[in-house]
Amino acid sequence: MTQNSLLITFEGGEGSGKTTQSQILYNALKEKGFDVTKTREPGGTKFAEIIREILVQGESNKINNISELFLFAAARADHVQKVIKESLKDNKIVICDRFIDSTLAYQGYAGRLDLDLVEEVNKISIGEIYPDLTFILDIDPTQGIERALGENNKETRFEEKDIIYHEKIRDGYMKIARNNPNRCVVINGTNDIERISKKILELTLNKINE
Ligand code: TMP
Repeated sequence: MTQNSLLITFEGGEGSGKTTQSQILYNALKEKGFDVTKTREPGGTKFAEIIREILVQGESNKINNISELFLFAAARADHVQKVIKESLKDNKIVICDRFIDSTLAYQGYAGRLDLDLVEEVNKISIGEIYPDLTFILDIDPTQGIERALGENNKETRFEEKDIIYHEKIRDGYMKIARNNPNRCVVINGTNDIERISKKILELTLNKINE
């Protein structure tokens, strides 16, 4: 099958269902015969996965916002160079669970770092590699955090931040969606899994056929 490269990102607050949905989309596209790479942030390379451990585990206030910003950027630059860029070069569809909008929503809107600074650092870490399509899964943070903490993992550093931080993330994502209407689609994360995945597949196929 001939296909053009595409970078699809999944975004959203804690427990919004983006990891589940990115996996379902990956399976559906593979089944249709597309060449797809699935990856995540922070992570996706050996080096970035080590940074991930520092960022997502432990006490919620252990790192200040600016250090956090640079750690995410360092992980992202490695991931973009080694995985995303190479896959796009091979005309693959890349599905990435979180990307630059997470930094803008978490470190920018919620962490109160200057938004222009965050955008500049994002730009440095990705170069020209911007997403073509972004699904933002939206959920009430109280409900989302309950879901996420029920998953029984040790990666709870962000989940443990206060509810106001998570509300700012949600508002931030809505602003990002409004500012980038050509690539961002907001999806109600409380709808049932099948309904959401059908919608996401439909929109992805439309994008592929554009
Ligand atoms: P995950 O829970 O989706 O695996 O993501 C790990 C955590 O890292 C999540 O709480 C969101 C946070 N994060 C940021 O704060 N900034 C970023 O740029 C990224 C990629 C993730």
